[in-house]
Amino acid sequence: MLRDTLFDQPVFEQGKFCFNKDVVAVFDDMVCRSVPFYHDVLSIMVDIVIDSFGSKDTITIYDLGCSTGNFLKCLLSHKHHNSFFINYRGVDSSVEMLKQLSLISFDSSRGSLQSIHHDLNHDFKFHSMQVCLFNLVLQFINPDKRLALLRQCYRALSKGGFCFVIEKIVCDNHDLQSLFTSQYHRFKEKNGYSKDAIKHKDRSLHDVLVPFSLDENKQLLIDSGFKVVHPFFQWFNFSGLLAIKE
Ligand SMILES: C[S@@+](CC[C@H](N)C(=O)[O-])C[C@H]1O[C@@H](n2cnc3c(N)ncnc32)[C@H](O)[C@@H]1O
Repeated sequence: MLRDTLFDQPVFEQGKFCFNKDVVAVFDDMVCRSVPFYHDVLSIMVDIVIDSFGSKDTITIYDLGCSTGNFLKCLLSHKHHNSFFINYRGVDSSVEMLKQLSLISFDSSRGSLQSIHHDLNHDFKFHSMQVCLFNLVLQFINPDKRLALLRQCYRALSKGGFCFVIEKIVCDNHDLQSLFTSQYHRFKEKNGYSKDAIKHKDRSLHDVLVPFSLDENKQLLIDSGFKVVHPFFQWFNFSGLLAIKE
């Protein structure tokens, strides 16, 4: 895995961050060192999926903003992943990310891997599914387009289907927001990022990553049709919500 030193220099101007070839090359290292409990959250979601759908013959999972396919790798490493046939659909707007996804070896007798190149700011046609995953991707979608996307997801989920939404969040309370931001920066420093690298990346993400509050994300899910919406993870300015279609 290539170490992420990309932001030691101001490689992107303010608000110009994108998932280009250079970012993709270091993505797996970047995401572990920049997202608190990244692998734990993937593993929790895999456990929930296996516990909840393990009795089915086949399940369809849409992984939106799938990046290099770390959710799929985590799923395939679970000892009970063979309990059902997996239709995995990874969607991403970055061709470079999808190239990495397609390198994952998948026993075709146990599942199918489809990589879908699509910008989720535009209408997306889901097929029927049991699980939909938005892991750190809604925050990159135009705020005005998020509800429509979640509505399409709700409609395509089968009864009893799960939608996971993990996001970086903002706090309505200004003092708490600064406290959480300093905790987050400390986390990144402990993981080897310099103060300059943190500043360069924050600046590049300005208006590219647009976080909502936890309440706003819950409300989006409720407005898209979900009646059961519950947090399953929170670490300062990161939260995970699980919504179930009744
Ligand atoms: C922080 S990464 C998500 C991490 C990933 N879900 C995981 O589990 O490792 C954000 C991903 O969303 C993708 N993305 C950003 N904007 C997008 C858009 N408008 N449509 C589709 N994918 C997008 C990026 O290319 C990137 O792969």
